[in-house]
Amino acid sequence: MTTLTKTISKTISKTITTAISKTAATKTPIGQAGAIALVALLAAPMAWSHGSVTPQAVDTKDLERLGDEWREENPYRDHPQHDLAVDIGARAYNSNCAACHGLEAKSGGIAPDLRELENGPWGDEWFKELVTNGAERNGRVLMPRMSDYVSQEALWAIRTWLETVSIETTGQ
Ligand code: HEC
Repeated sequence: MTTLTKTISKTISKTITTAISKTAATKTPIGQAGAIALVALLAAPMAWSHGSVTPQAVDTKDLERLGDEWREENPYRDHPQHDLAVDIGARAYNSNCAACHGLEAKSGGIAPDLRELENGPWGDEWFKELVTNGAERNGRVLMPRMSDYVSQEALWAIRTWLETVSIETTGQ
């Protein structure tokens, strides 16, 4: 295992243990099913780090097609389908980004908290930059190039959803 994999696995097992003991101790409505779902979700980065990326298909057929050329700005922000994009984006985020970036975009420490992205065109530019290039340091892939696995429509839908939960929008 690479050091990254080890670090990720360690972080994950710690997070899982804490999450489960918290759930058990406080008998929150999350319950056992929730805890199991959480484990499944948090275990996902191990698959990523092996290079065997298993992206989840996102159903975007009802959203306006965007073509192959990448847009500079989120096309769904001021769009009749804005709300549909938010719905699709929330689901697409859960299946493709939450494993690293955290449930509800609240980072558990593995990757940056995406609620901190700026709303509007400036944040769009950074978002596009990262999802179309991925992130690498010292030859290690920190984030795969997500646009290889997730469609432009789904990625802008994710961005649309992220803006609804951003710190700028919610104030927290
Ligand atoms: C394998 C884990 C992993 C997955 C999966 C992943 N990311 Fe990332 N992402 C990272 C890491 C780690 C960074 C920080 C990279 C760095 O420090 O250079 C990052 C950075 C980012 C950034 C820049 C954040 C900032 O504050 O600068 C954006 C935007 C982003 N990711 C979006 C996404 C989206 C959208 C998805 C899902 C479609 C996704 N990521 C999936 C690990 C991941």
